[in-house]
Amino acid sequence: MAVSEPPRFPLASLPTPLVPARRLADAIGSAPILVKRDDLTGFALAGNKARKLELLVGDALAVGADALVTGGGAGSNHCQATAAAARVAGLACVLVMYGRAPAREHPNLRLARAFGAEVRFTGDPDRRSVDRGLDAVAEELAVAGRRPYVIPRGGASALGAAAYALAVPELVGQLAAEAVEPAVVIVAAGSCGTHAGLLAGTLAGGHPWRVVGAAVSRSVAESRTRVLELSRACAELLGTRAAIEGDVEVADAIGPGYGVPSRAGVAAARLGARTEGLLLDPVFTAKALGALLAMVREGLGGPAVFVHTGGVPSVLHEGGLWDA
Ligand SMILES: Cc1ncc(COP(=O)(O)O)c(C=O)c1O
Repeated sequence: MAVSEPPRFPLASLPTPLVPARRLADAIGSAPILVKRDDLTGFALAGNKARKLELLVGDALAVGADALVTGGGAGSNHCQATAAAARVAGLACVLVMYGRAPAREHPNLRLARAFGAEVRFTGDPDRRSVDRGLDAVAEELAVAGRRPYVIPRGGASALGAAAYALAVPELVGQLAAEAVEPAVVIVAAGSCGTHAGLLAGTLAGGHPWRVVGAAVSRSVAESRTRVLELSRACAELLGTRAAIEGDVEVADAIGPGYGVPSRAGVAAARLGARTEGLLLDPVFTAKALGALLAMVREGLGGPAVFVHTGGVPSVLHEGGLWDA
């Protein structure tokens, strides 16, 4: 892909492995499944967030910021990853979280605090209260003479998505080495930047596979709109071909709700653990693998790449998969 790469602040150990999951494929009688191990990006258990933060922190440093401001839920992988990245880059970090401080803190919140982030709760259970909080914190810091850099929830911006467009050539080289041409690349979709970037990179390279997002935190309709918008913005940034509506494929994987384990996800996580030793989290990756298994049952038409996006801090959290 002949694109001009945005500045990058190195965080991840790349390339991440692409691993054939033979026992998993055999267990379900499927065509080959390969797992792109972005749970192994090698920085602060950040999973897919490490790639995004390389570009987001790179931009923050390029514009002379001295503090990262972002937010999400108390269990947000993105928040803990941003807190760690801020430290490495020598920046302060303020995290805005919806709701109130939980009585029992999720490992990600404990990690974020351990990395020295300042954590503020909005007191409002609506996730969108974070967005208002980000603006307020940025204004407060600016008034105090600081230089805040606001990262939207999930790192979902054109630049965050670009990190995954730029990961596609890495995947292409690995697929060539395995002599596999996938029919489908599937990934968990939350704030939708990862899916949007993979789609932009796939279109930029003219690759024939479908990119499917397993929607775990929003409706299919909302996810489709976000993926299309983010993917187009990402393509504009990189100067590559823009997606059209028909390019966007989203599978419903939310089950009983965002952050609530689903039956399909629990079954998929157990299968992944028992066949491949994979650690899948209840919020994102277990549901995404569940969506892939459903697609296999319906007939996939060829090999699949499952992008494992991490979520490791949630794997052992109380009330998670293994208690379900
Ligand atoms: C483990 C994990 N997987 C997948 C996702 C989804 O990525 P995105 O927010 O880019 O859709 C996230 C982030 O929210 C995540 O933390």
